[in-house]
Amino acid sequence: MQNIKFENGRLLLLDQSLLPNEEKYIEPKTKEDYFTAIKTLQVRGAPAIGIFAAYAMALLEGDKAELKAYLDSARPTAVNLSWATERMLKAYNAGKDLIEEAKAIHYEDRELCRKISEYGLSLLKDGDGILTHCNAGALATSEYGTGLGPLLLGKEKGYEFHVYSDETRPLLQGARLTSYELEKAGIDVTLICDSMASLVMKQGKINAVLVGADRIANNGDTANKIGTSGVAVLAKHYGIPFYVLAPYSTVDTACESGDDIIIEERSGEEIKTYMFKEPTALPETKCFNPAFDVTDSVLITAIITDRGIHYPPFNFKEIL
Ligand code: MRU
Repeated sequence: MQNIKFENGRLLLLDQSLLPNEEKYIEPKTKEDYFTAIKTLQVRGAPAIGIFAAYAMALLEGDKAELKAYLDSARPTAVNLSWATERMLKAYNAGKDLIEEAKAIHYEDRELCRKISEYGLSLLKDGDGILTHCNAGALATSEYGTGLGPLLLGKEKGYEFHVYSDETRPLLQGARLTSYELEKAGIDVTLICDSMASLVMKQGKINAVLVGADRIANNGDTANKIGTSGVAVLAKHYGIPFYVLAPYSTVDTACESGDDIIIEERSGEEIKTYMFKEPTALPETKCFNPAFDVTDSVLITAIITDRGIHYPPFNFKEIL
Protein backbone atom coordinates (compact mmCIF):
# COMPACT_ATOMS: atom_id res chain seq x y z
CA MET A 1 0.00 0.00 0.00
CA GLN A 2 1.55 3.28 -1.08
CA ASN A 3 0.28 6.35 0.74
CA ILE A 4 2.60 8.86 -0.99
CA LYS A 5 3.46 8.49 -4.68
CA PHE A 6 5.74 10.69 -6.75
CA GLU A 7 5.03 9.96 -10.41
CA ASN A 8 5.96 11.99 -13.50
CA GLY A 9 6.69 15.06 -11.37
CA ARG A 10 3.33 14.84 -9.57
CA LEU A 11 2.76 14.14 -5.89
CA LEU A 12 -0.23 11.94 -5.12
CA LEU A 13 -1.49 11.36 -1.60
CA LEU A 14 -3.84 8.62 -0.41
CA ASP A 15 -6.37 10.63 1.63
CA GLN A 16 -6.33 8.81 4.99
CA SER A 17 -9.26 10.83 6.30
CA LEU A 18 -11.54 8.90 3.92
CA LEU A 19 -10.34 5.41 4.89
CA PRO A 20 -11.53 2.70 5.19
CA ASN A 21 -14.59 3.58 3.12
CA GLU A 22 -12.93 5.24 0.16
CA GLU A 23 -9.44 4.82 -1.34
CA LYS A 24 -8.85 8.12 -3.10
CA TYR A 25 -5.64 9.90 -4.11
CA ILE A 26 -5.51 13.69 -4.02
CA GLU A 27 -2.95 16.01 -5.63
CA PRO A 28 -1.98 18.99 -3.44
CA LYS A 29 -0.90 22.01 -5.46
CA THR A 30 -0.56 25.05 -3.18
CA LYS A 31 1.22 25.49 0.16
CA GLU A 32 -2.24 25.77 1.74
CA ASP A 33 -3.18 22.37 0.25
CA TYR A 34 -0.07 20.82 1.82
CA PHE A 35 -0.68 22.52 5.18
CA THR A 36 -4.33 21.44 5.25
CA ALA A 37 -3.48 17.85 4.31
CA ILE A 38 -1.14 17.61 7.33
CA LYS A 39 -3.43 19.50 9.71
CA THR A 40 -6.58 17.53 8.86
CA LEU A 41 -4.78 14.15 8.89
CA GLN A 42 -5.22 13.41 5.18
CA VAL A 43 -1.60 12.42 5.75
CA ARG A 44 -0.61 11.42 9.27
CA GLY A 45 1.93 9.33 11.13
CA ALA A 46 5.24 10.93 12.04
CA PRO A 47 7.49 9.62 9.21
CA ALA A 48 4.75 10.03 6.55
CA ILE A 49 4.22 13.72 7.31
CA GLY A 50 8.00 14.22 7.13
CA ILE A 51 8.15 12.58 3.68
CA PHE A 52 5.13 14.56 2.46
CA ALA A 53 6.57 17.87 3.71
CA ALA A 54 9.91 17.06 2.05
CA TYR A 55 8.14 16.84 -1.34
CA ALA A 56 6.31 20.09 -0.54
CA MET A 57 9.66 21.80 0.10
CA ALA A 58 10.92 20.46 -3.25
CA LEU A 59 7.86 21.22 -5.36
CA LEU A 60 6.64 24.60 -4.07
CA GLU A 61 8.20 27.88 -5.19
CA GLY A 62 8.97 30.77 -2.82
CA ASP A 63 10.98 31.43 0.33
CA LYS A 64 11.97 27.98 1.61
CA ALA A 65 12.65 29.08 5.20
CA GLU A 66 9.16 30.63 5.41
CA LEU A 67 7.65 27.52 3.85
CA LYS A 68 9.41 25.30 6.40
CA ALA A 69 8.09 27.39 9.32
CA TYR A 70 4.58 27.31 7.84
CA LEU A 71 4.54 23.53 7.32
CA ASP A 72 6.12 22.80 10.73
CA SER A 73 3.33 24.73 12.43
CA ALA A 74 0.70 22.30 11.06
CA ARG A 75 1.62 19.63 13.64
CA PRO A 76 4.13 20.53 16.36
CA THR A 77 4.62 17.24 18.23
CA ALA A 78 5.93 14.83 15.58
CA VAL A 79 9.60 15.75 15.22
CA ASN A 80 9.97 13.97 11.86
CA LEU A 81 8.13 16.89 10.22
CA SER A 82 10.63 19.58 11.26
CA TRP A 83 13.51 17.10 10.87
CA ALA A 84 12.58 16.55 7.20
CA THR A 85 11.96 20.23 6.41
CA GLU A 86 15.27 21.14 8.10
CA ARG A 87 17.10 18.60 5.95
CA MET A 88 15.41 20.02 2.84
CA LEU A 89 16.32 23.59 3.81
CA LYS A 90 19.95 22.59 4.26
CA ALA A 91 19.88 20.84 0.87
CA TYR A 92 18.42 24.00 -0.71
CA ASN A 93 21.09 26.21 0.86
CA ALA A 94 23.75 23.78 -0.38
CA GLY A 95 22.34 24.00 -3.93
CA LYS A 96 21.32 20.33 -4.07
CA ASP A 97 18.57 18.88 -6.30
CA LEU A 98 15.54 19.08 -3.99
CA ILE A 99 13.48 16.42 -5.76
CA GLU A 100 16.36 13.97 -5.36
CA GLU A 101 16.66 14.92 -1.66
CA ALA A 102 12.92 14.36 -1.07
CA LYS A 103 13.11 11.01 -2.86
CA ALA A 104 16.13 10.10 -0.70
CA ILE A 105 14.14 10.83 2.49
CA HIS A 106 11.31 8.70 1.10
CA TYR A 107 13.49 5.73 0.09
CA GLU A 108 15.61 5.88 3.25
CA ASP A 109 12.44 5.58 5.35
CA ARG A 110 11.74 2.23 3.64
CA GLU A 111 15.17 0.98 4.72
CA LEU A 112 14.71 2.29 8.27
CA CYS A 113 11.27 0.66 8.61
CA ARG A 114 12.63 -2.63 7.30
CA LYS A 115 15.43 -2.63 9.91
CA ILE A 116 13.05 -1.63 12.73
CA SER A 117 10.69 -4.42 11.65
CA GLU A 118 13.49 -7.01 11.71
CA TYR A 119 14.67 -5.97 15.19
CA GLY A 120 11.07 -5.90 16.41
CA LEU A 121 10.27 -9.31 14.97
CA SER A 122 13.24 -10.81 16.83
CA LEU A 123 11.40 -10.01 20.09
CA LEU A 124 8.19 -11.85 19.10
CA LYS A 125 7.12 -15.49 18.79
CA ASP A 126 4.85 -17.14 16.25
CA GLY A 127 1.30 -17.14 17.62
CA ASP A 128 1.80 -14.12 19.92
CA GLY A 129 -1.12 -11.88 20.87
CA ILE A 130 -0.27 -8.24 20.22
CA LEU A 131 -1.97 -5.03 21.32
CA THR A 132 -1.60 -1.90 19.17
CA HIS A 133 -2.75 1.68 19.68
CA CYS A 134 -3.38 4.19 16.87
CA ASN A 135 -1.70 3.43 13.54
CA ALA A 136 2.02 2.99 13.03
CA GLY A 137 1.87 0.93 9.85
CA ALA A 138 2.63 1.49 6.19
CA LEU A 139 0.09 4.32 6.12
CA ALA A 140 2.06 6.20 8.78
CA THR A 141 5.43 5.70 7.07
CA SER A 142 6.65 4.66 3.62
CA GLU A 143 6.36 0.88 3.84
CA TYR A 144 5.90 -1.75 6.62
CA GLY A 145 5.65 0.87 9.35
CA THR A 146 7.22 0.98 12.78
CA GLY A 147 4.79 -0.40 15.40
CA LEU A 148 3.09 -2.64 12.81
CA GLY A 149 6.32 -3.38 10.93
CA PRO A 150 7.21 -6.60 12.78
CA LEU A 151 3.67 -7.90 12.18
CA LEU A 152 3.69 -7.16 8.44
CA LEU A 153 7.22 -8.54 8.03
CA GLY A 154 6.35 -11.53 10.21
CA LYS A 155 3.34 -12.30 8.01
CA GLU A 156 5.65 -12.46 4.98
CA LYS A 157 7.84 -14.92 6.90
CA GLY A 158 4.92 -17.16 7.89
CA TYR A 159 4.26 -15.98 11.47
CA GLU A 160 0.64 -15.95 12.64
CA PHE A 161 -0.08 -13.13 15.10
CA HIS A 162 -3.37 -12.33 16.83
CA VAL A 163 -3.67 -8.58 16.99
CA TYR A 164 -5.99 -6.54 19.18
CA SER A 165 -6.30 -3.03 17.77
CA ASP A 166 -7.40 -0.21 20.10
CA GLU A 167 -9.86 1.92 18.14
CA THR A 168 -8.06 5.08 19.40
CA ARG A 169 -10.44 7.87 20.32
CA PRO A 170 -11.22 10.48 19.17
CA LEU A 171 -10.27 10.02 15.49
CA LEU A 172 -10.27 6.22 15.44
CA GLN A 173 -6.98 5.60 13.63
CA GLY A 174 -6.89 2.10 15.14
CA ALA A 175 -10.32 1.27 13.76
CA ARG A 176 -10.15 3.09 10.45
CA LEU A 177 -6.49 2.50 9.58
CA THR A 178 -4.83 -0.28 11.60
CA SER A 179 -7.63 -2.82 11.24
CA TYR A 180 -7.91 -1.87 7.54
CA GLU A 181 -4.17 -2.35 6.98
CA LEU A 182 -3.97 -5.63 8.86
CA GLU A 183 -7.09 -7.05 7.18
CA LYS A 184 -5.56 -6.22 3.80
CA ALA A 185 -2.34 -7.97 4.80
CA GLY A 186 -4.28 -11.08 5.90
CA ILE A 187 -3.31 -10.69 9.58
CA ASP A 188 -5.78 -11.79 12.26
CA VAL A 189 -7.06 -8.57 13.85
CA THR A 190 -9.76 -7.88 16.42
CA LEU A 191 -10.94 -4.34 16.99
CA ILE A 192 -11.54 -3.24 20.59
CA CYS A 193 -12.54 0.02 22.27
CA ASP A 194 -9.64 1.68 24.08
CA SER A 195 -11.29 0.91 27.42
CA MET A 196 -11.10 -2.85 26.74
CA ALA A 197 -7.30 -3.07 26.73
CA SER A 198 -7.13 -3.95 30.43
CA LEU A 199 -9.54 -6.88 30.06
CA VAL A 200 -7.76 -8.51 27.10
CA MET A 201 -4.48 -8.18 29.00
CA LYS A 202 -6.00 -9.70 32.12
CA GLN A 203 -7.41 -12.56 30.05
CA GLY A 204 -3.87 -13.43 28.92
CA LYS A 205 -4.49 -12.58 25.28
CA ILE A 206 -1.58 -10.13 24.96
CA ASN A 207 2.10 -11.10 24.85
CA ALA A 208 3.45 -7.70 23.79
CA VAL A 209 2.34 -4.13 23.09
CA LEU A 210 3.75 -2.46 19.94
CA VAL A 211 3.37 1.27 19.37
CA GLY A 212 4.99 3.99 17.25
CA ALA A 213 6.23 7.33 18.52
CA ASP A 214 6.12 10.98 17.54
CA ARG A 215 9.06 12.35 19.54
CA ILE A 216 11.49 10.52 21.82
CA ALA A 217 13.34 12.56 24.43
CA ASN A 218 16.97 11.88 25.36
CA ASN A 219 15.94 10.01 28.53
CA GLY A 220 13.49 7.75 26.64
CA ASP A 221 10.26 9.56 27.59
CA THR A 222 8.15 9.19 24.48
CA ALA A 223 5.30 11.23 22.95
CA ASN A 224 2.77 8.90 21.35
CA LYS A 225 -0.89 9.08 20.32
CA ILE A 226 -3.17 10.08 23.19
CA GLY A 227 -4.04 7.05 25.32
CA THR A 228 -0.72 5.27 24.79
CA SER A 229 0.62 6.08 28.26
CA GLY A 230 -2.47 4.46 29.81
CA VAL A 231 -1.78 1.30 27.81
CA ALA A 232 1.83 1.39 29.07
CA VAL A 233 0.64 1.61 32.69
CA LEU A 234 -1.62 -1.40 32.10
CA ALA A 235 1.18 -3.37 30.44
CA LYS A 236 3.46 -2.70 33.44
CA HIS A 237 0.70 -3.85 35.80
CA TYR A 238 0.18 -7.11 33.92
CA GLY A 239 3.91 -7.73 33.27
CA ILE A 240 3.56 -7.44 29.49
CA PRO A 241 6.48 -6.04 27.44
CA PHE A 242 5.76 -2.56 26.08
CA TYR A 243 7.81 -1.76 22.96
CA VAL A 244 8.12 1.63 21.23
CA LEU A 245 9.33 1.45 17.62
CA ALA A 246 10.58 4.47 15.65
CA PRO A 247 13.34 5.59 13.28
CA TYR A 248 16.36 7.55 14.59
CA SER A 249 14.76 10.72 13.15
CA THR A 250 12.04 10.50 15.85
CA VAL A 251 14.66 10.83 18.61
CA ASP A 252 15.08 14.46 19.66
CA THR A 253 18.05 14.76 22.00
CA ALA A 254 17.33 18.51 22.31
CA CYS A 255 14.46 17.40 24.57
CA GLU A 256 16.11 16.09 27.72
CA SER A 257 12.84 14.61 29.02
CA GLY A 258 9.16 14.41 28.11
CA ASP A 259 8.55 17.69 29.98
CA ASP A 260 10.23 19.48 27.05
CA ILE A 261 7.86 18.01 24.44
CA ILE A 262 5.13 20.30 23.08
CA ILE A 263 1.78 18.53 22.92
CA GLU A 264 -0.53 19.50 20.06
CA GLU A 265 -4.05 20.42 21.17
CA ARG A 266 -6.81 19.92 18.63
CA SER A 267 -10.40 21.11 18.29
CA GLY A 268 -12.93 19.76 20.76
CA GLU A 269 -15.26 19.18 17.80
CA GLU A 270 -13.22 16.03 17.10
CA ILE A 271 -14.54 14.63 20.37
CA LYS A 272 -18.14 15.78 20.01
CA THR A 273 -19.06 15.64 16.35
CA TYR A 274 -16.55 14.26 13.81
CA MET A 275 -17.34 10.58 14.06
CA PHE A 276 -21.04 10.76 14.91
CA LYS A 277 -24.30 11.31 13.04
CA GLU A 278 -25.45 13.61 15.83
CA PRO A 279 -23.30 15.64 18.24
CA THR A 280 -22.66 13.73 21.48
CA ALA A 281 -22.55 16.81 23.70
CA LEU A 282 -23.99 20.30 23.81
CA PRO A 283 -22.20 22.91 21.65
CA GLU A 284 -21.27 24.85 24.80
CA THR A 285 -19.69 21.83 26.52
CA LYS A 286 -15.97 22.42 26.93
CA CYS A 287 -13.54 19.80 25.61
CA PHE A 288 -9.87 19.10 26.20
CA ASN A 289 -8.38 17.34 23.19
CA PRO A 290 -4.61 16.78 23.40
CA ALA A 291 -3.47 14.74 20.38
CA PHE A 292 -0.62 13.01 22.22
CA ASP A 293 0.54 12.06 25.68
CA VAL A 294 3.95 11.23 27.07
CA THR A 295 4.84 7.71 28.15
CA ASP A 296 7.39 7.82 30.97
CA SER A 297 10.50 5.84 30.12
CA VAL A 298 10.11 3.71 33.27
CA LEU A 299 7.07 2.12 31.60
CA ILE A 300 8.95 1.19 28.42
CA THR A 301 10.57 -2.26 28.10
CA ALA A 302 12.62 -1.31 25.04
CA ILE A 303 12.80 1.32 22.31
CA ILE A 304 13.50 -0.19 18.92
CA THR A 305 15.10 2.01 16.26
CA ASP A 306 16.82 1.20 12.98
CA ARG A 307 20.06 1.21 15.02
CA GLY A 308 18.99 -1.65 17.31
CA ILE A 309 17.05 -2.59 20.43
CA HIS A 310 17.69 -0.12 23.24
CA TYR A 311 16.96 -0.99 26.88
CA PRO A 312 16.72 1.39 29.85
CA PRO A 313 18.25 3.48 31.20
CA PHE A 314 18.09 5.46 27.95
CA ASN A 315 20.59 8.15 27.02
CA PHE A 316 20.19 8.70 23.29
CA LYS A 317 23.00 11.26 23.09
CA GLU A 318 25.30 8.30 23.68
CA ILE A 319 23.30 5.68 21.74
CA LEU A 320 22.81 7.46 18.40
O1 MRU B 1 -2.33 11.83 15.12
P1 MRU B 1 -1.71 10.77 14.29
O2 MRU B 1 -2.68 9.87 13.63
O3 MRU B 1 -0.71 11.36 13.32
O4 MRU B 1 -0.89 9.89 15.31
C1 MRU B 1 0.21 9.20 14.87
C2 MRU B 1 0.55 8.05 15.70
O5 MRU B 1 0.01 7.79 16.71
C3 MRU B 1 1.62 7.14 15.30
O6 MRU B 1 1.68 6.09 16.20
C4 MRU B 1 2.95 7.86 15.31
O7 MRU B 1 2.98 8.99 14.48
C5 MRU B 1 4.01 6.96 14.87
S1 MRU B 1 3.97 6.75 13.16
C6 MRU B 1 4.92 5.46 12.69
